[in-house]
Formats: sequence, structure tokens, C-alpha cells
Amino acid sequence: MNKLNHVAFIMDGNGRWGKKKTKGRNYGHLQGVKTVQKIVQGAIKLNIPIITFYVFSTENWKRPKKEINFLFNLISLYFKRELQNVIKNNIKIKILGKISSLPVATRNNLKIAINKTKKNNKLIVNLAINYGSKSEIVNTIVKLKKRGLEISEKTISNNLYTEKLPNPDILVRTGGQKRLSNFMLWQLAY
Ligand code: IPE
Ligand code: IPE
Ligand code: MG
Repeated sequence: MNKLNHVAFIMDGNGRWGKKKTKGRNYGHLQGVKTVQKIVQGAIKLNIPIITFYVFSTENWKRPKKEINFLFNLISLYFKRELQNVIKNNIKIKILGKISSLPVATRNNLKIAINKTKKNNKLIVNLAINYGSKSEIVNTIVKLKKRGLEISEKTISNNLYTEKLPNPDILVRTGGQKRLSNFMLWQLAY
């Protein structure tokens, strides 16, 4: 097989897993963070330069407020506790999605993480947060039009949240379902 450049994950099934363990959906989300860490370590070991996690979709705002708050607190807490390790591992954090609509604490922690890791070059970790592929494509076209730029496959590709990163070679969806749930429709065309 050719070298893997980019592996993407729709990390699904966490809530059901927590419920099955009779500890509740949020317990599933909490354990999901540990799995993310294992995958990151695996990517470093296997020399995979880019990984992407689907963390929160534009459709996930329809979930109960309590669960949404738990998820965003989890993201904030993670970066508060782990940023030094992320930096030490030479990992660059990139966000795919509109972070301006996130709770302010989460937004600030993410901005710090992006800033402090921007020069790192061992592994790019893309976090798709408040991400939806359809709105990504629409926003990109609007942006190109505003700037008076040509609208072509190339300019759209280069101006998505993923910018000039290569498309994923492999998509993994955990949890047993087989659908894209509005994830990287353009980038996963093949
Ligand atoms: C995690 O899985 C993905 C997130 C949106 C955080 P889910 O929360 O969708 O868990 P299931 O699919 O309901 O089990
Ligand atoms: C996909 O999981 C979104 C994320 C993993 C963030 P969902 O559980 O939200 O998707 P559906 O509802 O099964 O399509
Ligand atoms: Mg799900």
C-alpha cells in the first residue's frame, strides 16, 4: 500500500457505548477522548502526517443543551490540561469549522492551542468542530465571489477549511453506522 498521508475519523457511537455500560452518554464522550489520544500516538508511531477527527457537527446543535455543554467543556478542559504535551509532541492543531459560534471559553482555549502549535510539524491534527460539509462548500463559494476570484474545482479545493491539505486516504467511522453525516463531502469524493 502507498504511504498514508491523511486518515479521517468520524468518531461515533460514544453515547451508545456509555449507555450500554450503564454510565450514561457523557461517560462515553469522556472515554472517547482517551481513544483520540491513543489514535494520535498511533499516528505518530506510524508516521502518518495528518489526522482528522469529526468532533461536533453543525447538526449536533439539536442535541440536549446539557450534552452540548458537556462536550464543549470537555474540549476546553482537554486543552487546558494537555496543551503542553501537544506542544512537546510537535503536533499542530487546526480547526475545521466555524469557531466563532462556540462558547467563549472553548473558543479561547482553541485559539491558544492553534497559536501555540502553529509552527509544529510532526503531525497535523484537524478537529472538525461546528463543522458541516455543505456549509463549508457554500461559505467557500461565497468567499471566492466576494474576492472576485474564479470559481473552479481548484479554487474551491484550496479554500475549504482543509485548504491545501491532501484529501483523506482512509475514512474510519466507529459505532457501526455507514454514512457520512455531512462530513468532508468534497474531500471524500474518492
Ligand atoms: C460521538 O458519538 C460523536 C459526537 C457528536 C460527539 P455520539 O454522541 O453520536 O454517540 P452515539 O452515536 O449517539 O452513540
Ligand atoms: C456524526 O455523528 C458527527 C460526529 C461524529 C461529530 P452523529 O451521531 O452526529 O451523526 P448521525 O446523527 O448518526 O448522522
Ligand atoms: Mg452518533
